[in-house]
Amino acid sequence: MYPNSTLKHLIARTTCRAFDASRDVLESDLHWLRRAAAGGPNGGNLQPFSFVEVHEKKTREWLAKECGNQKFIAQAPLHLLACIDWRRTQRWMKLEKAPCVVEDSFSMFWVSLQDTLIATQNIVTAAESLGIASCYIGMVYKSVPALRERFALPPLVHPVVLLALGYPHSQERSPSAKLPTETIFHREKYADLSDAQLSELLGVKHAPLQQPANAENLRKFQEIATYLGGATFAQQAVAEAQERGFLTPAQVYFTLKYNGISLVDVNEALFEEIRLSGFQVAKNRCAAE
Ligand SMILES: Cc1cc2nc3c(=O)[nH]c(=O)nc-3n(C[C@H](O)[C@H](O)[C@H](O)COP(=O)(O)O)c2cc1C
Repeated sequence: MYPNSTLKHLIARTTCRAFDASRDVLESDLHWLRRAAAGGPNGGNLQPFSFVEVHEKKTREWLAKECGNQKFIAQAPLHLLACIDWRRTQRWMKLEKAPCVVEDSFSMFWVSLQDTLIATQNIVTAAESLGIASCYIGMVYKSVPALRERFALPPLVHPVVLLALGYPHSQERSPSAKLPTETIFHREKYADLSDAQLSELLGVKHAPLQQPANAENLRKFQEIATYLGGATFAQQAVAEAQERGFLTPAQVYFTLKYNGISLVDVNEALFEEIRLSGFQVAKNRCAAE
C-alpha cells in the first residue's frame, strides 16, 4: 500500500518493452505530458530543452534500427526525443544585443543536461499517472549525426535521450530489483558498505546476469578484460571463472552485457558530436590537452 497515488507511480513504475501498437497516445494525454515537462525545475528558469515528438510509423521503425536494432521501439506509438536546446536563448540574446555564454560555458551545458533529464522524468511520472508506460532509450548518443539530419536539429540543439511511450501490452509488469534504500542514502556523511555487504547486496540484485563459463563467454570476457584491466588481471579472472563454472554478474556487466571497449572508445566521438552541435566546450577541452 502506498500513502498516495503519486508515490505509487514513482515507486511502482517499471520500464515497458512491450507496447500495444494499436493504441495511440491521446492528444488530451499528450497535452498533460507537455505541461509536466514544462513544469520541471531548471537552472535559472531558462528551460534549455526541446522535445521532438515522433508519431509516424516509418520514423519509429527508423529509430528502432538506429538505436541498436531494439525492435520493440517501433511498437511504441509515441517517441519523444529529448534535446538540450540553447538555440532559443541564444537567438533571444542576439536579438536583444545581450552577452551570451551558452556556446562556451561547460557549466551551462552541464546544467542543461540536468534540466533536460528532469523535464523528461516529469513526463515519465505524468505518463504513469495516465496509464501510459515508457522506456528510455539511451543509445541515441551513437546516432547524433543521423538524428540531427532526420529531425532537422539546428546548432545548439543536442539530442540526449529518447523516450518511448505507449500503453503497455499487459498491466502486469514485474518490477526490476532495486537496492535497499539504506545503501543509497547516507546520514550526514558518506558511509561505505563493507566488502561482504557489497558482494551480498549487489550480487543478489544482479544475480540473473550470471553466465556459464563456456568457451564463447570466456573468450569475449578475456578480450574485453584484457583491454580494460591488462593481461594478468584477465587471465586470473578467467582461471577463477573456469574453476567456479560461471562468470559473476559483476564480470558480465561491462563485458557480455555492455561492451566495455566500445563504451570507452566512443568518448572522443561523443565530445566531437557535442562540438558539432555548436558547443565549443568540447573544443576547449581538446585545447587544454
Ligand atoms: C538513460 C537511460 C537509458 C536507457 N536505455 C535503454 C535502452 O536503450 N533500452 C532498454 O531496453 N532500456 C533502456 N533503459 C531502461 C533501463 O534498462 C531500466 O530503467 C533499468 O533496467 C531499471 O529498470 P526499471 O526502469 O524497470 O526500474 C534506459 C534507462 C535510462 C534511464
